[in-house]
Amino acid sequence: AVTKSQESETDLEILIQSLPKEKYWLRHGLDLHQIQGFWIPSFAIRGIIKFRNQFLARDTDVILASFPKSGTTWLKALTYSIVNRSYDSSDNPLTRFSPHDLVHNFENFIFKSENYPDLESLPNPRIFATHSPYQLLPESIKNSKCKVVYVCRNLLDQFVSRWHFKDSVKSETPQFPISEAFEMFYQGIDGYGPSWAHLLGYWNAGMENPQKVLFLKYEDLKENPNFYVKKLAEFVGFPFSEEEEREGVVERIVKFCSFENLKNLEVNKNGKRQIGPLKNSAYFRKGKVGDWANCLTPSMVERGMKLMEDKFSGSGLSF
Ligand code: A3P
Repeated sequence: AVTKSQESETDLEILIQSLPKEKYWLRHGLDLHQIQGFWIPSFAIRGIIKFRNQFLARDTDVILASFPKSGTTWLKALTYSIVNRSYDSSDNPLTRFSPHDLVHNFENFIFKSENYPDLESLPNPRIFATHSPYQLLPESIKNSKCKVVYVCRNLLDQFVSRWHFKDSVKSETPQFPISEAFEMFYQGIDGYGPSWAHLLGYWNAGMENPQKVLFLKYEDLKENPNFYVKKLAEFVGFPFSEEEEREGVVERIVKFCSFENLKNLEVNKNGKRQIGPLKNSAYFRKGKVGDWANCLTPSMVERGMKLMEDKFSGSGLSF
């Protein structure tokens, strides 16, 4: 007899087979599947559909959303520290686990893992993460009072960060040259892309409903971390008291979650992710604004700048 879940697995496979497909430059053998205008990597497509169809949000949930390599690790560490008020080195779970193993991703982890704990049994507030475009989020997230925080980054820095990140998974097969990878990024045929449509989805949602979506930029966080950490804390419903501010709690959280501090923790230097092949160190490279200047050709830079100008023109968003 065919069970209901086997039946829906078959439906899912039929749906995925029917989607337009392209190659993903990140690794040979990876595909992208186009759904509602976005290209989802083969390792995330099943999870993203299950997440959309099955996840039931609670009003107290906090959802951290991002385009890959835009500051996800940082945002996870900051939000975890704010909600749990963990900033002392001695008794801080962030000294023992990667931020990614404290705040789990829906499509690459929760809806992929056979033995993920029952979501219902998790205590409030639950903090989750996703790379899903806003347009593909489950209705329950859009319709409940849960909070969505999005972090984005200059598209060129984000591309360069991903270009380096691909080397963290050892591959026997030849790699795409950067010129081809850049071209696919530029065409929008890219993991979770087009990247500009990903940013604009959350940007517009935040403009329409600022109580629902907090839109952050990596560059702003770098420039003024204290200000944005206070803003983030208020937004997720864990504001700092005057006394905490006087005691320097904001500064301590900022310092604990800084690139230099997190990168040099033993767990992030030599630890490994709980599932999958990645080392925790893969998430910490340079942590700088403007590293595109060291990696891209002048023509790529010119085209990329123009791309951002064109795509974001009139939106109020700029880099
Ligand atoms: P670079 O490759 O430019 O160094 P994500 O967390 O979304 O995967 O993005 C990873 C990028 O954020 C990497 O950028 C990484 O070095 C940087 N990063 C990680 N932790 C950070 C932190 N605490 N502060 C600032 N940048 C951080």
